[in-house]
Amino acid sequence: EKGGYDHFMLKEIHEQPKAINDTYRGRLLRQEAIIKMAGVEDNMKKFLNANRIIIVACGTSWHAGLVAEYIFEDLARIPVEVEYASEFRYRNPIITEKDIVIAISQSGETADTLAAIKLAKSKGTFVFGVCNVVGSSIARETHAGAYTHAGPEIGVASTKAFTTQITVLTLIALRLSRAKGTISSSEFRQHLLELEMIPDKIISALKSDTHIKEISDLYKDSRNCLYLGRGYNFPVALEGALKLKEISYIHAEGYPAAEMKHGPIALIDENMPIVVIATKKGHYEKVVSNIQEIKSRKGKIIAIVTEGDTQVRALADHVIEVPETLESLSPLITTIPLQLLSYHIAVLLGKNVDQPRNLAKSVTVE
Ligand code: F6R
Repeated sequence: EKGGYDHFMLKEIHEQPKAINDTYRGRLLRQEAIIKMAGVEDNMKKFLNANRIIIVACGTSWHAGLVAEYIFEDLARIPVEVEYASEFRYRNPIITEKDIVIAISQSGETADTLAAIKLAKSKGTFVFGVCNVVGSSIARETHAGAYTHAGPEIGVASTKAFTTQITVLTLIALRLSRAKGTISSSEFRQHLLELEMIPDKIISALKSDTHIKEISDLYKDSRNCLYLGRGYNFPVALEGALKLKEISYIHAEGYPAAEMKHGPIALIDENMPIVVIATKKGHYEKVVSNIQEIKSRKGKIIAIVTEGDTQVRALADHVIEVPETLESLSPLITTIPLQLLSYHIAVLLGKNVDQPRNLAKSVTVE
């Protein structure tokens, strides 16, 4: 059932090219230059008239929501707030029928997310679901939605659910951008084209597996690890840190790279590995100067860079190359090496990768 892989997690990491393809199949029609999503089409007026979108989710799905915040605001110019479902439901939030809630959940059974949906509905708010499990409670409780079509995710650590959630949310943002006219038709076409190339680019990112395993062996005994990224890749840093915590039990934190000097920089010494997402588009020069600051404090730098990069390579202790894409789509690629890094570290430490201690695949109690 693991299809020749040692663990479900590794199988699911490798399934991402196909899963993403399944997510956009029938929805992304590049020849016609359209995106077709029934759940969005049927509710287009609501989406276009919304004052803002509030995204509610937990864990990795919340990270997908953070990536979506960048995409929706950048491309569709719709204000977005991203909330932990558990906080949203208990803080008497201000929501009205002028808002839209998007609930994201792989399992479709997360208790806090379900409760947040019920609360939003009680205020007359339209609720759109992004779920993986067909017919799940959240899929049934929402007014409309779009499935991720990632196939069953067995490993407790979420991998392909995350990248397919981002894919669905990107499709929605692009569809709304066209309807609103906030991006030009050539920008729109370019996004469709680049989105179609993502599965092949993930295949090529997966080729760093052996190199990542070697790096993992050098850092597996670390007590702490920092993950830094900016812009679209800030949520990817959070997700990378969560993956490492969950399955290897190494303490890790994700930060926006620029926040480092407001505190975490105090932690940096020669024993601190720091994973930095430093791909070409998106504040590259700023990230390079963050890397210089780390280097002068002797931190060990593992950088995720664009193929052919030389500037970061000259500074970092290790570089992991990924193919170039649009900045807005880069999380779909930069996530891959971080998944592999956490996987290999956990395996080298002899941890139960697919069923980490204290964690359950679906959290049906608050
Ligand atoms: C992380 C992980 C959890 C889930 C969270 C939400 O790898 O698996 O953080 O992402 O429990 O679960 P869903 O998406 O099923 O609502």
